Amino acid sequence: MPCTIIVGAQWGDEGKGKIIDILAKEADIIVRYQGGNNAGHTVVIGDEQFVLHLIPSGILHKGKLCVIGNGVVVDPEALLNEIEDLRRRGIQIDGNLIISEASHVIFPYHKVIDKRRGAIIGTTGKGIGPCYVDKMARCGIRMIDLINRNTLKKKLLANLRGRGYKEFDFDEIYRKYLGYGRRIKKYLANVSLVLNEAIRNNRRILFEGAQGTLLDVDHGTYPYVTSSSATAGGALTGTGVGPTYIDKVIGVVKAYTTRVGEGPFPTEFDKILMEKIRSKGKEFGATTGRPRRCGWFDAVIVKHAIMVNGISEIVVTKLDVLDEMKKIKICTGYKYNGRIYRYFPADIEILERCSCIYEELPGWMEDTSSVTRYADLPKNTKRYLHRLSDLLKIKISMVSVGSKRKQAFKIERL
Ligand code: IMP
Repeated sequence: MPCTIIVGAQWGDEGKGKIIDILAKEADIIVRYQGGNNAGHTVVIGDEQFVLHLIPSGILHKGKLCVIGNGVVVDPEALLNEIEDLRRRGIQIDGNLIISEASHVIFPYHKVIDKRRGAIIGTTGKGIGPCYVDKMARCGIRMIDLINRNTLKKKLLANLRGRGYKEFDFDEIYRKYLGYGRRIKKYLANVSLVLNEAIRNNRRILFEGAQGTLLDVDHGTYPYVTSSSATAGGALTGTGVGPTYIDKVIGVVKAYTTRVGEGPFPTEFDKILMEKIRSKGKEFGATTGRPRRCGWFDAVIVKHAIMVNGISEIVVTKLDVLDEMKKIKICTGYKYNGRIYRYFPADIEILERCSCIYEELPGWMEDTSSVTRYADLPKNTKRYLHRLSDLLKIKISMVSVGSKRKQAFKIERL
């Protein structure tokens, strides 16, 4: 795996944290390339649970270099808290973490604007969108600016005065953020240089995508998306590594579908099924604690994700959550206004109002959470995986049947 990108192929929360944790064993460097602390990657090691928001999940493996790329937006307070929290739990940070000098910084006004305006989309309220707005408007403040008193002063004054943010006190924010800069300085690096040198030295790099394809600002259910490039392309622009160095893109999908926040969700369950799957799958946001909306597997959106990311294999997670379902449905198309859609439509109205075309398969009604190899899965579980693989025309390379590290196994052939 010299350079492998891991992406979510649905609306995020596919279980990427756990899969990255497993694959990180074989990698030298793990890189986050977009998003910020809106993400929540959960990893369970033994009896301990870790939820990582900014720092790549690879930090839980000793001696791996973890990188926060230029495409990430960093809330310095959240970052320092995460570092402290991990340190207290015995995780070595210094020497194992670098942060791009060019990554943009989230300020208090970003969070206030997000909380004020983000309600329609149901954002996480972490200031992600407003920070990316400043980046694109070319008035953002970058990590490197936090260690240059003059630049920080100039830019912060321009941002506060130019926009009439009267409720924010310049002196207070300036002093606070200079302080953050002093504490973060030792982690700052030219990430592109470090990664390209590592590639020349045949080091194995894992690019860790946050959120998911359908939340990508270009390829998702716009405007109900996040403000970054959560697809594989983001791994390039978000780190400064060229496309010719990427060997593989792995998509992670849940055996069903979930989404948090507002926006269209064609296969969403009715109330009874929603409650059942939500409680069995513990479907509550790792960052905000919000209940996740749940629904059947949607092959239309996953096919779209496979295409726009160039995914070459998928990992299916949380298969065990379907253990008690008598029947399982897969959506293979949408019907709207007398037309059938087999491909992901850009028109949000179609996604909001369509009815789904389903295939129904028999459930397996057996506990799969202790299965450790493909051959031991129930017949109907294999049938479900086969059908997914056929519909999506993609190889399934791994399956996960629980939150623990050992509850996952590779599949050579279906
Ligand atoms: P934002 O990223 O906070 O701007 O939120 C935009 C949309 O993306 C909202 O619907 C959020 O619920 C969703 N979102 C952001 N991060 C995640 C994530 O890590 N998992 C799932 N949904 C997310």
